[in-house]
Amino acid sequence: MNIVVLGPGAIGSLWALSLHNAGHSLSLWSRNGHHQSTLCLDTLSPVTLVNNDAEKLKDADLLLVTLKAPQVETAMQPLLEQIDPDCIVVLMHNGMGTADIVAELLPNNPLVLATTTHGAYRPEPNKVQHTGVGITQLGGHNEKGKQCQFLAEVFDHALSTAQWHNHIEQALWSKLAINCAINPLTAINQITNGELAADSYRSTLVSVVEEVAQVMNAEGIVTDAAKLEETVFNVIQATAKNHSSMQQDIVHKRPSEIDFITGYLLQRAQTHNIAVPHNTALFEQIKLIEQSWKSS
Ligand code: NAP
Ligand code: PAF
Repeated sequence: MNIVVLGPGAIGSLWALSLHNAGHSLSLWSRNGHHQSTLCLDTLSPVTLVNNDAEKLKDADLLLVTLKAPQVETAMQPLLEQIDPDCIVVLMHNGMGTADIVAELLPNNPLVLATTTHGAYRPEPNKVQHTGVGITQLGGHNEKGKQCQFLAEVFDHALSTAQWHNHIEQALWSKLAINCAINPLTAINQITNGELAADSYRSTLVSVVEEVAQVMNAEGIVTDAAKLEETVFNVIQATAKNHSSMQQDIVHKRPSEIDFITGYLLQRAQTHNIAVPHNTALFEQIKLIEQSWKSS
């Protein structure tokens, strides 16, 4: 396939190189404006890929968007006229809420949503490390997107395991619950994921997850709060040594994905008139930290 990766950071570079190595015609769209980028995955030989080529974008069969959620609308706006209506758009990021924005910007394109538990780290702009093997789930957001099941095979062949999910919103909400629980608490307290296993965080974690489960049920996503809590504690254990993405964003004073994680939950809770005080408190604390950078 002709594939363009928009936002080739850590996770985008991992996928770009994996899809290139699987034989696809790969190019990048980044904000550095260079015509070529040389990327190196782990100890493999460096690969030079075309960057920001309008013709490649027009010819793309697949646009894989690996931007952070808050960057999606701004980055896609200037590209809209160059994206063919048959080009499949795949959004792969933490958080929710961009799908409706993109569906409005590109109403005729097949739209597919993806979530991945692979880990990627970019120690330098041209280097990417595959830090954790995970699972990628993909599923259609609109009718045309739902017909793109073959993509699971394309992604699986490049970087296993990838699976098609007929109700991708279910997988996205489960990931949202994990991120609502782990990300703000680790960012506010500047701790590793594993430190959340301490007794002092237990009641907050349980309350946050119970609130998310209530909103999920109101959204028609059948879930069980106890099972969701178990999943969150399993992720805390499995990623004990990691620093969450929000902890890293906050420590480096980069805007976090809070609006598309807890912020999205708060929006949906308001629609259903559900009170979510624990999530609201965490949202406000992250916002206060981000605002403090502007005044300092
Ligand atoms: P990242 O390294 O910051 O990648 C985002 C990339 O988008 C950066 O290279 C950034 O450019 C680029 N970008 C920003 N604005 C742009 C624009 N207008 N046009 C073109 N490119 C633009 O972040 P990441 O770690 O890959 O994460 C991406 C998403 O995947 C996040 O939602 C994250 O939570 C999720 N995720 C990450 C991992 C992981 O292990 N990294 C795992 C699972 C999910 P600059 O390089 O110039 O900043
Ligand atoms: O955002 C993150 O860091 C990750 O999604 C997770 C699962 C919380 C692990 O650090």
